[in-house]
Amino acid sequence: MGDGGKINAAKAALAYVKSGMCIGLGSGSTVREFIKLLGTKCRGGMKISCVPTSFDSRMLAIKEGIAVEETDTVKSIDLAIDGADRVTKTALLKGGGGALTREKIVGYNAKKFIVIVDESKVEKGVLEGEVNLEVLPFAAPLIMRELSKYNPRIRMAKSKLGPVISDNGCFIVDCDMKLADPKKTEQLLKSMPGIIENGIFTKFDKIIVGTEKGNYIL
Ligand code: A5P
Repeated sequence: MGDGGKINAAKAALAYVKSGMCIGLGSGSTVREFIKLLGTKCRGGMKISCVPTSFDSRMLAIKEGIAVEETDTVKSIDLAIDGADRVTKTALLKGGGGALTREKIVGYNAKKFIVIVDESKVEKGVLEGEVNLEVLPFAAPLIMRELSKYNPRIRMAKSKLGPVISDNGCFIVDCDMKLADPKKTEQLLKSMPGIIENGIFTKFDKIIVGTEKGNYIL
């Protein structure tokens, strides 16, 4: 599968952006397509600002000439656009890029939260796959013992020795789960001390699925 689905989902999301808005920028390769399109709009005269959810998105936004705001300077996040790893109509799995905590903060605090994915992300049945957790390093051994039946593993870096360290200075722990009740599991994981956030998202407004030829709403 090429990048056509990602690009078409990003293009469709652009229709929701209006001048004067502050846009919450998610993270990942689909959002990168959206940021590039947003940059073109800005260069064409559209006045928008953004709150990025990762250093990766922040660096690209700056390169594209989009005004970056911080959570303490922004009045409101009008629209958040983010990708996902797996989706059903009612829940998402996120965190493949390790940015899940800031993504959830920005998405859940936005006036409107739109998810953009290509067709490969759509789950037909029960949401199942890797549930990503951001975990305080001190708590990681205890959390992993508690969640041992879900095969937890600390995500290891590819171009450095040792674990991935998130933008917030934490570990990412990946588990395998089948989610009969995503909202309940989201809340359960959230209640465990040491888990900063989990990658189960159950609060969003719309999922745009990009295809090679166009897009549809899930
Ligand atoms: C980042 O932490 C993730 O939540 C991404 O939003 C997710 O992995 C989607 O990324 P891609 O668009 O690269 O598939």
